[in-house]
Amino acid sequence: MFANLKAQAPDKILALLGEYKGDTRQGKIDLGVGVYRDPTGVTPVMRAVRQAERQIWEAETTKTYTGLAGEPAYLQAMSRLVLADDQQPERTAALATVGGTGAVRQALELARLGNPDLTVHVSDPTWPNHLSILKFMGLPFAEYRYFDDATRGVDFDGMMADLGRAQAGDLVLLHGCCHNPTGANLTTDQWSEIADLLDRTGAVPLIDLAYQGFGDGLEPDAAGTRLIASRAPEVLIAASCSKNFGIYRERTGVLLARVGDPASRDLAQGTMNFLNRQNYSFPPDHGARVVQTILDDAALRADWVAELEEVRQTMLGLREQLAQELRDLTGTDRFDFIARHRGMFSRLGATPEQVARLKDEFAVYMVGDSRLNIAGLNRQTVPVLARAIVEVGI
Ligand SMILES: Cc1ncc(COP(=O)(O)O)c(C=O)c1O
Repeated sequence: MFANLKAQAPDKILALLGEYKGDTRQGKIDLGVGVYRDPTGVTPVMRAVRQAERQIWEAETTKTYTGLAGEPAYLQAMSRLVLADDQQPERTAALATVGGTGAVRQALELARLGNPDLTVHVSDPTWPNHLSILKFMGLPFAEYRYFDDATRGVDFDGMMADLGRAQAGDLVLLHGCCHNPTGANLTTDQWSEIADLLDRTGAVPLIDLAYQGFGDGLEPDAAGTRLIASRAPEVLIAASCSKNFGIYRERTGVLLARVGDPASRDLAQGTMNFLNRQNYSFPPDHGARVVQTILDDAALRADWVAELEEVRQTMLGLREQLAQELRDLTGTDRFDFIARHRGMFSRLGATPEQVARLKDEFAVYMVGDSRLNIAGLNRQTVPVLARAIVEVGI
C-alpha cells in the first residue's frame, strides 16, 4: 500500500528555510518564511499572551472537550475583533479552526457543499498554499490579475476585468489586508467597487484575513472585510490569530460565515460543526482561550494592542529605511513601492536568476518569486540587502 505513495513536491518556503539553516556563511539573511522577528531576530511570545497563559493556568479546572464549534466566548470575541459593531449573530455562523489555514480549508469545504459546481477565483499571485489546497481538493479555480509588475501596485483594472467573469455561486478569494506575497493592497474605494462587482455577479467573497494589525492598524486592516461584510448577502471570512497574537504554533483561527437569514445560519452552523467533526472533531482550545482572555480583559487587550503596534511600526520603519537606502544608492525613487506596501511582505519584482544570485553571492534568502519578508531584516541588515539588490541589478 504505502509503496504506492507518490512523492509530494516539498513546500518551497519550508525547503528554502532548510537550505538557510544548512548555510554556514556568517551574516546570512533569511527573508523567506512568513514569521515576524523582532530586531534581535527572535519571534517573541507577546507580553499579553504570557500573562493570559498564566491566568489560564491558575484558573483552569478542566480540560474536557470544548464544543465542536469551539468556545462561544472565543467566537464572539473574534467576531467583534473582525467585524466590530456589525456582528449580526442572527446571520453569522462561527467556527473555531486549526489556524487560518484550517479556516480557509473549512470555508472551501463549506462552499463546495453549498455549490458543487463552484469555481474559486484567486489572485495571481496568491499565498501558494491557497493553490495547493485547491489542487488537493480538486476544486476548479481561475486566477485573476492582481499585481502590476510596472508599478508594483494593484492592477485594479485587470482584477476587475477578470473578476467580471465570475458566475453566481462562485467564490472570490480576497486577502483582507497585507496581501501575501505582494504587499500591494486595495484602497477603500477599490473595496467598494469590488462590493459592487460581487453584487452584479452574485459571486460570494471568501476573505482571508491573516494579518489584521500588521498593515495600517487593527481597525484599518479590517475595513475592507467590514465593507464587504456589510454589503454582500453572503460572505465567508477566514481569520488567523497566528501573526497578530504571535501564537503560530497554537493553531488558532476562526471561520465566520454570514448568510441570508437565521434559518440559513443554523444550516451553515450545523454544516460547519459537521466539517470540524469529520476532520479532527473538536478544535484546539489553548490558543483560542488565550486570545479570548486577552480580548475580553481591558488591561491585557490594551497591552496587546500596544505591542502589536510596536511590531507594526518596526516593520514600517524597516520599509522606510530600505526604500531610503535604495533611493540613496540608485539616485532614483523606483524602490519607493517598498515603503508603500503593507504587511510583512513585498514583492521586489526580481527575476529568478537575480533571486538565486542574492542567495549564492550574498547569502540573502528570499522566495523565488522575489517575495521578501520585511520582518526578517533589522537596522543593520537593511543596508546589506540594499547593496545586494543593486549589485544583482534588480
Ligand atoms: C494569506 C495567508 N492566509 C492564511 C495563512 C494561515 O496562517 P495560519 O494557518 O498559520 O494561521 C497565512 C499564513 O502564512 C497566510 O499568509
